[in-house]
Amino acid sequence: MTNQNGSLPAAPQLAALAATPEKLLAMRIKHTRIAQMMDELDTLIYPGSQDSILLVCGPTGVGKTTLGTHMVEQAQRNAKSQMEKDAGFTPAIFVEAPASGEAEFSWRLFYHRILGQTDDDGGAPKMAYGVDSVTGRLVRPRGSGGNSLAALRTAVTRSLRARGTQYVVIDEAAHIFSQSSAKSLKIQLDTLKSLANDCGAQMVMVGSYDLYQLMSLSGQLARRTHVLHFERYRQDCDEDLRAFRACVQKFEDALPALWGNRLLEHADALHENTLGCIGTLSAVLTRAAVLAMRQGGWSVDALRRALLTEAQRLRILEEILEGEAAINPGLTRTLARAKSQSKQRDGRSVA
Ligand SMILES: Nc1ncnc2c1ncn2[C@@H]1O[C@H](COP(=O)(O)OP(=O)(O)OP(=O)(O)O)[C@@H](O)[C@H]1O
Ligand SMILES: [Mg+2]
Repeated sequence: MTNQNGSLPAAPQLAALAATPEKLLAMRIKHTRIAQMMDELDTLIYPGSQDSILLVCGPTGVGKTTLGTHMVEQAQRNAKSQMEKDAGFTPAIFVEAPASGEAEFSWRLFYHRILGQTDDDGGAPKMAYGVDSVTGRLVRPRGSGGNSLAALRTAVTRSLRARGTQYVVIDEAAHIFSQSSAKSLKIQLDTLKSLANDCGAQMVMVGSYDLYQLMSLSGQLARRTHVLHFERYRQDCDEDLRAFRACVQKFEDALPALWGNRLLEHADALHENTLGCIGTLSAVLTRAAVLAMRQGGWSVDALRRALLTEAQRLRILEEILEGEAAINPGLTRTLARAKSQSKQRDGRSVA
């Protein structure tokens, strides 16, 4: 195994390379945009707020799930002393809206997931089928009274109230609405609103632009939710370019043995390819690290092979431009399409 200079990497360097993908995956850069989003959410989340439902929308790979988990972890860190005094206190929870495969959204599964997060599922009546570990026989639930949808809903309400939960982050929230007709869309949102009111917790729905588009199907719905736009770093904004470069620098600093201080010089090409989305940047660099490990050292070729193909990039760009135009028309009317650089193999280019 040789490095890019054709020589074998030294043993300590190999050891450093072995840990690279994990290290990149574990990174959480508190970059400008994520800090802005957290500030904005902090301002909008407070007891008694009229905004019982908040919508966080942004491009795929911008880092929405990371933002959601980060917020909840931070809320728990901030409430550490209160949590020490009151073991049940849970300021925020993170839950993914299930895609159950059923025609309609499964509120039942959703409530179970919330109860699972608050560790209160153990007390909830069991409906699940299972195999008894002693007899090896299938166990079937008896009766359904205590496990009705209404009972589950009451359990969620009680649990969140008792735990003083201020907000629930619902990732992949488009699943709640994706199968709905315009009429049942309103019913789904009303269910969520009344859940928020009953629990005294704000609901932070997180999703790609398709979530915003679903909500916009009804003007009435669109008017009743507050939308926060988690934007990518744009190529036509100097401040954004600087913030994106700072992220590339952080990724470079995290693994000096791997990149050999040569990553930042590709920041513009990485911005072009990842469309200014930090999650996508992380995915590209993780892939590049794996490829680099396999060939025993980093090379421009490994980075190029890790990039999105031109077809992938264009598909994502299309979705982004459509989403941005829908959320903030004034912003994108004048936006020029990202300039294309000289194409190399597979339509991928690294300067
Ligand atoms: N601030 C960050 N610092 C380091 N890595 C990040 C950051 N944000 C996102 N990532 C990484 O990028 C990857 C994708 O991020 P994430 O899942 O949050 O994006 P997303 O917007 O939710 O994407 P999707 O639209 O596919 O749901 C994850 O592996 C995550 O660890
Ligand atoms: Mg996500």
